Amino acid sequence: MFGRRPDQAVRKLEGGAHRDELRADGTTAAVIDASFTVEPGQIFVVMGLSGSGKSTLLRMLNGLLDPTAGRVLFDGQDLTALTPRELRGVRSTRISMVFQHFALFPHRSVLENAAYGLEVQGVPREAREARAAEALELTGLAGWEKSWPDELSGGMQQRVGLARALATDADLLLMDESFSALDPLIRRDMQDQLLELQQRLKKTIVFITHDLNEAMRLGDRIAVMRDGRIVQQGTAEDILVRPANDYVASFIQDVDRSRVLTAGAIMEEPESGRPHAELVAEAPATVTAETPVAELFAPCSTSGVAVAVTDGDGALLGVVPRSRLLAALGEEPKAEAAAGARGSGKAATAPPGPRGAKKVNAGA
Ligand SMILES: Nc1ncnc2c1ncn2[C@@H]1O[C@H](COP(=O)(O)OP(=O)(O)OP(=O)(O)O)[C@@H](O)[C@H]1O
Ligand SMILES: [Mg+2]
Repeated sequence: MFGRRPDQAVRKLEGGAHRDELRADGTTAAVIDASFTVEPGQIFVVMGLSGSGKSTLLRMLNGLLDPTAGRVLFDGQDLTALTPRELRGVRSTRISMVFQHFALFPHRSVLENAAYGLEVQGVPREAREARAAEALELTGLAGWEKSWPDELSGGMQQRVGLARALATDADLLLMDESFSALDPLIRRDMQDQLLELQQRLKKTIVFITHDLNEAMRLGDRIAVMRDGRIVQQGTAEDILVRPANDYVASFIQDVDRSRVLTAGAIMEEPESGRPHAELVAEAPATVTAETPVAELFAPCSTSGVAVAVTDGDGALLGVVPRSRLLAALGEEPKAEAAAGARGSGKAATAPPGPRGAKKVNAGA
């Protein structure tokens, strides 16, 4: 709660008052009932329009803002119960924040900027510069250590911000619209780089964005916020396939489904009774369950029949027939509650049954 008489405002909300009623008293309920858990190693994305409460939520996670009601547990430790000194300790060693506007010091070199978090921790110069140099290498900035921030492009400056966060070796990275100020292509690069780094470093990341495509690319789990509340939590596919309400459904209309849906989500059981080897031979193009649907078109067009989905050891998990591929993109997202009412008109695009593979086979 921001503003006057926050505790009283909490009681009013609990008593059923609407958020707008509090406004009249000069109080803003920025985050309401936002309960969620982020597992270690996850990228948890919080997505919502401007003013929905994302930054407030994030600032409570590192104790920069104290929740008026509720708790924040970090690794079992209640951040809201720590003394300011203890909190500063947790914040400087275990949690790092990457801001939207880079927040680099213009009169410090790239290396000194990357080492800043360690400097705050009191790490001696030589040790901190060595770790900062490693972090810069991780973010693709080796060779730029002695440069000044204004000699770097926006994307590179943001990499310095990221390197700074990585250098402290914090377990938890908080990223507030970190890529939003970047040009689309550079932004995509940064997203790729974050995913690649995450593969290696396995940090726990809470990433704020108002861009749903970005949320879907990055998030292992996504929370959608509206007016201070989390209106849906789930994987990108959950949200795309089963939007919780019309608000979320309208949000996802413009999402590129082919980049979010994966082979694993649309594959069908291989026909029973047929040896795997035979099926794989028939569908020579193989992909993994994580391959985005967008990348199935080329292999599907050359395989003639279907694409085989295999695990890391080459064992067959399922097949994606061509017909299934096209149908998966045509299925429109519908809010759960409204699905029944609008269901009837959709018969023509109903997903083909398990025999879809055979039909394509016959036509080929
Ligand atoms: N320090 C503050 N004092 C008073 N009200 C605040 C304060 N910070 C945020 N708010 C209000 O709380 C609500 C949520 O703001 P918040 O900054 O968390 O939204 P956001 O989702 O991060 O938005 P954006 O996408 O624009 O960054 C808004 O109504 C905002 O005006
Ligand atoms: Mg914000």
